[in-house]
Amino acid sequence: MLEEGPHGLELRRADDRPGQGVRASFEGLSTRGHPFSKLLRGCTGVVVDATAGLGGDTAVLAALGWHVLAIEREPRLFQLLCQAHERITDPELQNRITLLEGDSIRCLGSLPSSFQSPAAIVLDPMYPPRRKTSALPPKGMQALRMLHADGGGDDPEGLLAAAFAASPGRVLLKRPPEAPAIVDRPATFSVGSKLVRWDAWELGAE
Ligand SMILES: C[S@@+](CC[C@H](N)C(=O)[O-])C[C@H]1O[C@@H](n2cnc3c(N)ncnc32)[C@H](O)[C@@H]1O
Repeated sequence: MLEEGPHGLELRRADDRPGQGVRASFEGLSTRGHPFSKLLRGCTGVVVDATAGLGGDTAVLAALGWHVLAIEREPRLFQLLCQAHERITDPELQNRITLLEGDSIRCLGSLPSSFQSPAAIVLDPMYPPRRKTSALPPKGMQALRMLHADGGGDDPEGLLAAAFAASPGRVLLKRPPEAPAIVDRPATFSVGSKLVRWDAWELGAE
């Protein structure tokens, strides 16, 4: 449930008390050793996070200095993102993040002018529960799953096709480490750990 808490809106499970729910946040995340540094090496321009969720990846990208367009289609998550954006204390960080509510499969075809042909498009769709981790703390992941329990699920293939069609320099897709390829087009390179694998398609060089 999305409820008003002592510090603004929060996503609460049935047994959460006010203040124990999950909120989005764009500040206070560590960028140290984050795979984005390798994944975006050599890229110039802006970045689109087409599956913004609770804003974790957007926050890391913005902290690394990227201007980010964060797109989220789930209205309750979008409200949390808006409140998190208002709470940002560093005006420069705040300026580097632009929020857009909508379905990325459609939005990527008509990006705002300052985000057209971005350096990279980042995709982190929800996968079935076998996935054990994400950039989010477990409570955040639980909240995302709770919101999506009644939905039809994310569409990684559709998101990937829309991302390729938007002429970015690179497309980055976060996947479970053991996940098989979902498109015939092989990734240019991957950056992985025990918990997650990022596949990267370098399009600028094609
Ligand atoms: C695993 S979460 C992303 C978590 C995010 N990377 C973070 O760090 O908080 C996936 C999110 O993508 C959103 N999403 C999936 N498909 C989408 C689409 N076509 N357009 C916009 N958002 C989408 C879902 O609503 C969900 O919030």
